[in-house]
Order: sequence, then C-alpha cells, then structure tokens
Amino acid sequence: MVSTLLVLPSRQRAAVLNCSSPSQARTDCTGSPSGPLVLVQENSSPWGFASMLNASKAATRVLSSSLKATEMQAGWHSFLRRGGKILRRSASLAVPSARAWTTPLRAKQMTLSAAPALLPQLSFRRSFSTSATPDLTRPLPGLARASQGQNTLKVWWQDGESDEFPYIWLRDNCLCPACFLDTASSRVSRVTDLSHDMRPKEVCVSEDGASLRVVWEDEHEGTYSASWLHERAFNPTQQNMHENFYKLRPELWDSDMSRRIPRASFDELMENDAALLKLLESMEVLGFTVVSGARQEEGELQRLSERVSYLVPSHYGTTFTVKSKADPSNPAYTGKYLDLHSDLVFLHYKPCVQLLHCITQFSGDGGDSTLADSHRVAVQMRELYPQKFRFLTDVPVDFRDVATDEGFQFDIIARRPMISTKPNGEIETVNISTTGRDSHFGVSPKDAVGWYDAYLTYCELLYRPENHFLYKLEAGEILIVDNLRILHGRTGYRAYEGQRHVQGGYWDWDMMRSRRRVLQRKLKGSPSGI
Ligand code: OGA
Ligand code: ZN
Ligand code: ZN
Repeated sequence: MVSTLLVLPSRQRAAVLNCSSPSQARTDCTGSPSGPLVLVQENSSPWGFASMLNASKAATRVLSSSLKATEMQAGWHSFLRRGGKILRRSASLAVPSARAWTTPLRAKQMTLSAAPALLPQLSFRRSFSTSATPDLTRPLPGLARASQGQNTLKVWWQDGESDEFPYIWLRDNCLCPACFLDTASSRVSRVTDLSHDMRPKEVCVSEDGASLRVVWEDEHEGTYSASWLHERAFNPTQQNMHENFYKLRPELWDSDMSRRIPRASFDELMENDAALLKLLESMEVLGFTVVSGARQEEGELQRLSERVSYLVPSHYGTTFTVKSKADPSNPAYTGKYLDLHSDLVFLHYKPCVQLLHCITQFSGDGGDSTLADSHRVAVQMRELYPQKFRFLTDVPVDFRDVATDEGFQFDIIARRPMISTKPNGEIETVNISTTGRDSHFGVSPKDAVGWYDAYLTYCELLYRPENHFLYKLEAGEILIVDNLRILHGRTGYRAYEGQRHVQGGYWDWDMMRSRRRVLQRKLKGSPSGI
C-alpha cells in the first residue's frame, strides 16, 4: 500500500505525489526525472518490512511511466547502487504534520519551493535510507571474477553487478587466524603491520565463486567468502542494509498514537523471543510500549530485565519506588502534577530508557501518564522557528538534583543544551524537566530572555492537543519509554486518599539494540539478521 510518494527527480526539483494507489500516482506524476530519485512512502507498519518492500515495488511501477526504459531494465539494484534511495517517512522531513501531508490539499501546497529545505537533508545523509531493497529475497550472488586497479580490487558478481574494495581495507580485514580471532569476532592484527601501499601479488576467485583468495606482496595470504564480501560491499544498497541493522529508524508520532498504543504481554515477553523482538523493534521505532500482565508487586522489573538488559542504577537506586512519601527526595514522590519531562537530565549519562511499573493505581481522577514525542516537536520547532530552535540547541542550561535519598546525599549538576542534535542534524535528545532545571543560568540576561522565549515556544507546541496524550496505567502494566525521545509526565492525584504505587527503573539503549540484533539473527537467520 502506498499512500504518499515524494519523488525527487533531481537535486533541483521535487514533486510530491499523493496517492492511494499506484495508478493514481502515475496520473499525477509530471516531469521527467533524470537524476537520482528518492521515494518516501508512508503508512508502513513499524515492523512491516515486507509491506514496505511491497510498497517499494509498487513505487517502481508508479515511476515506470517517467523513468527511461533503460533505467527500468537495470532495475532497483542498480538504481540503488547509483545512490537512489527508498525512504520511509523520516524524523527530519521538513513537514510540519505527517497527517496533514497525506491530504491532497497539503500535497498540492508542498510546492517546489519546499524542495530546497528537503534536498540537503535527503541527499547526504545515509541514515535516512532504509534497508528495503528487493534484493533481500533472492540468494546472494557468487563471485564471477576480480581485477586489480590502482587502490582497489574490482569484483564482479555472478549477477553482473560489480563492487570495488580498497586494498588497505581488505588487508586490514584479513580473516586469517593470525589477523582475526573468530571466537571474539575481532581483529587481532597490529596496526603497525598495516601500510597504505600494500598490494596483492595474486588474486584468485574459487571455481564455484564462493570465495576470493588474496596473496599479498609480503606473502601474507587471506581468503574471503563471497557472502562476507557481499555484505560489506561499499555500495549504497549494502550500506543502507547495515544502517538499518545498526539502528531502526524512528517513526515520529502525534497524539493519534493514543489509538494504536504498542502493547506487549509480560508472560509472552518472558517466554517468547519473537514477542521480545517485536517489543525491542517497537521501542526503537515508536519509542514506547505498554506491557500488561505483570504481577502487582515489586520485582517485576528485575524479572523482565533478565530477558532484555541489565537495570542501570542511579542515585535513586537500581529500582526506585514512586509513592507519595514524607520528606520526598524527588517531586515524583508526591501527588503533584508532573510536567512532561525526561528523567535524570542532570546526569551526563542520562538513562536511555525508563520503566514505570504500576503496582497500584490511584482509583480517583488523576495519576494518569502524559506522553509526547519530543523529537517530533523539535522537528516542528526547527521548521517553524529556526532561530528560536538555535537558542535551544546552543544555549547551555544547568540541570541539578540536590537532595538526600534513603540517607544518600547528593548534589548533581549537568550543563547541556535543551535540544542536542547529531552532526547530521537528526535530533539526539531533548532535555526538558521543569523540576530538574536549575535556577543558576550562566548566560547574559539578554540570552536568558531569548532562551525563555524559545523554551516557551517549544512548550506551546508540546502542549498542543495534537502533540501529547494521556494514558492511565492499570495495575500490572509497565510503561516503557525511550528517555532520549519520549517525554512522560503525570497528572496530579490526591495522595492522602489511598496509596498509588509505581516501581521505576532504567535500561540502556546499547544493550537493548544488542539484544534486538542478536534476536534478529537468531529468528531471521541471515548473517546480519535482516
Ligand atoms: C518519575 C515519574 C510518573 C508517575 O518517577 O520519574 O515521572 O506516573 N513518575 O508517577
Ligand atoms: Zn591475515
Ligand atoms: Zn519521570
């Protein structure tokens, strides 16, 4: 199913097609693309790899009317190799509302003048590509032949495609037992043995095309299997496939998400690897999940963690009990309303993922969780108010936690901007916490005023009804949120009227992604797991 295609025929021109079917798109398609093409398709399910693949195939048909016949014959494989990309709706697309974008009106309004804003983002960032290529379903081709160039070895595959591998890379990645320790999947050669001018003396493809043997000028010898080389080929298709194995691409959401909350069952997660993989994928793509069916007692987070990742301790303990307490060390330990926030913003190593296990819920009005996708709001802010956005990415803010928790006294400060971005412009995290932001502010009064203006603008967007929603956890449910992306909060409750009891803890993204990759390999079989 294809709902929206963005077709960028060249680096200068863009056309947005909005269609419910490929044939409709063909009707709408004008212009004659000649340069690299980029397709953006929406409405693929978070883990609907197959559906995405189908959508991409449908898109091929859509484009067939406007592509040169020769290009179509060459097919997707070479289209992608030449730098063409298939994209899913991306975090940084310069589109204020994904929903609005799917309406024909919006598509028409998305005139060519919108293209310059899109193009720089789409053209240079490899992380915006996905692994979706029709090649996945066919067996990997064997090697046909190899020929030596000046700095690279050119390899032809049995399907007629070719790739180039730098000599220094081949030598650096020699798989012989002297260079590579199989059991640790690690290079054990020494960097001082590597030199830039190493060249093969002899290169030989095995008769069955399954491997390549290289004898170097210094008589060192190594063999590479065809599949190992193919997976590491320096072409966009392979590199995009690996990109998606490294990290799944987030799908930003608005308050409509309240109608399709990602869910998992505690018992299934404990027993079933496929259910666990689905949870981990959903966490990467959507950033939160509600797990149901946990026992209504403390200790369930520890049990679940045995399946996923270790719990990351903080100065509040390995787990912490969120109840209304006498002398609370944290505002969460009261019945007060909590603004949308990210946890522990005052730690330089802010925990990646937060777990909140509802053991007893408040039976009256209140105690609901609020949820918002801070990255989506940041993208909106960058589009609508680029200068104010700069205040939030550039001005350092002090976050601080001063209290005593269970006898442990602390005074923790981290100075960081409210929004941090990656070098490629993607949003990394949003550090927002009314309770954890310090009153010290090491900037000029003028910059402070400018920062508050930007901050309030961000919050105005954040608290728009379309950008957040309420969800009241039931006893036995665990809310898991990506603490780098999804903001959570709580409506106030009358603490004196019966006890509300939540147990909290944190996980680490490295370990969660590691678990996802291991499970992908285990359940999906192929070497990279995709
Ligand atoms: C927290 C928190 C929310 C809740 O402890 O960090 O946000 O529902 N708690 O009590
Ligand atoms: Zn070697
Ligand atoms: Zn919190």
